[in-house]
Amino acid sequence: MSKALKILFVTPECAPWVKTGGLGDVSAALPQALAALEHDVKLLMPAYPALRALRDGARLLFQRPAQGHWPAARVLHAGRHDGVELLLLDCPGYYDRPGGPYEDPQGENALRFGLLSRVAAELAGGASPWREWRPDILHCNDWPTGLAPAYLQQLQPGGTRSVMTIHNLAFQGLFPLERARELELPPPWLVPDGLEYWHQLSFLKAGINFSDGITTVSPSYAREIREPASGCGFDGILRARAGRLCGILNGIDEAVWNPATDPHLPQRYDSGRLELKRVNKATLQQRFGLQEDDGALLFGLVSRLTEQKGIDLILEVLPWLLAQGGQLVVLGVGEAGLEQQLRDCAGRHPRQVAVELGFNEALAHQIEAGADAYLMPSRFEPCGLNQMYSQAYGTPPVVHATGGLADTVVDLAAAPERSSGFSFSQPTAGALQAALQRVFEAWREPAVWRGLQQRCMAQQLGWRGRAQRYVDVYRELLAA
Ligand code: ADP
Ligand code: GLC
Repeated sequence: MSKALKILFVTPECAPWVKTGGLGDVSAALPQALAALEHDVKLLMPAYPALRALRDGARLLFQRPAQGHWPAARVLHAGRHDGVELLLLDCPGYYDRPGGPYEDPQGENALRFGLLSRVAAELAGGASPWREWRPDILHCNDWPTGLAPAYLQQLQPGGTRSVMTIHNLAFQGLFPLERARELELPPPWLVPDGLEYWHQLSFLKAGINFSDGITTVSPSYAREIREPASGCGFDGILRARAGRLCGILNGIDEAVWNPATDPHLPQRYDSGRLELKRVNKATLQQRFGLQEDDGALLFGLVSRLTEQKGIDLILEVLPWLLAQGGQLVVLGVGEAGLEQQLRDCAGRHPRQVAVELGFNEALAHQIEAGADAYLMPSRFEPCGLNQMYSQAYGTPPVVHATGGLADTVVDLAAAPERSSGFSFSQPTAGALQAALQRVFEAWREPAVWRGLQQRCMAQQLGWRGRAQRYVDVYRELLAA
């Protein structure tokens, strides 16, 4: 048997403690899956308020004195959770404060996430006082950890290899170039081949240029981001590093997203007892005052309300959808204009449209289970988890065939025997409406619909095989 790897996974969010989107779910499930493959995994994240109780019971690994612009900080060992050891970066002025993890009223995010990156590199590169454990792999996630591979190079890592995972290229971690000095980034790095991007400093670019390996969260997205249309200005550097870039599909945490065991559901069910699913639908209709009609096709949506997610396309086709007798339940937070438009729709059609603005984990599960079909017309989608959650819940997704959505949803018409949802190829309201027309048609044929649900639920969506792909990448890097 090959040697177990030591992996330091660094992330700005991790479920169930802190989650703003899919990165929180992946940061919980992927390290667990790696640990289940018998690797030695430690996860480093900031000690946000939600982690106070764990922080207060944690063991001190070392104290990091104030240095330059950075205040003093501590690294704590907060126990083992589902096989993964949790390391907390405690610096109360930076992290133990109200609001979401990225909220930044004082303009400190460069330093806050610079410190997270710096400490990760120090741990990985043996430059921290805690020398008992040196990882083989430093695995970084998204721009808040992007400086870590650069700092690791500075620290002469020896054998440690770094991997940068891009969960969303649209978030580049841009700051004024002048901040380089306080972040202790040497002037020779402030060039386009380093971490300069149009006279700004980009944390994500640092991660891309300085890491040993780059991954992103689906094979299609790995191809798309090498093209100008989807490259967010980074397509050039990604083409240049294409040999180091690979796409690995996200999985789902089957212990958390499983309708047979889900504690959030009024009624649990599985593919053998699909008829029970309707109890969840009725409960959802009741909760929101929608017409309690099992014959009305109920669409669900749980999402950040942003341009990325194609919410405007849904708003455009909504009058048509409602005229067909459909219903819609939305849970989300995001852009004020979209929130307002959704609220207005619900106000005009209280028996057909329900909107809850906020973050609500339990309700997210209840919508996956209670809806008949799930809407995800994203303009771009690195991977997307909700379409897979909805498949696991027998709620066929309707998606724009882009990024991970293209890799995870097989259209009913394109390949009936393998189908797992509905997809359309242009991100327009017209294309979405045409797909929805097909959804209504399939829904009217119970045998067709039931078959589709069964295929959705029979898929292997778990992390095991997908985590193994990460291990393969780690091993290739270590062998190089
Ligand atoms: P992204 O990371 O781009 O937001 P994903 O589909 O990968 O998209 O993951 C989104 C995750 O966040 C899912 O777990 C989804 O259920 C959750 N989520 C998004 N918005 C909300 C919300 N308002 N309330 C609860 N969960 C939400
Ligand atoms: C990002 C992407 C989403 C992906 C998630 C987890 O937030 O927008 O598509 O599923 O990260 O990788």
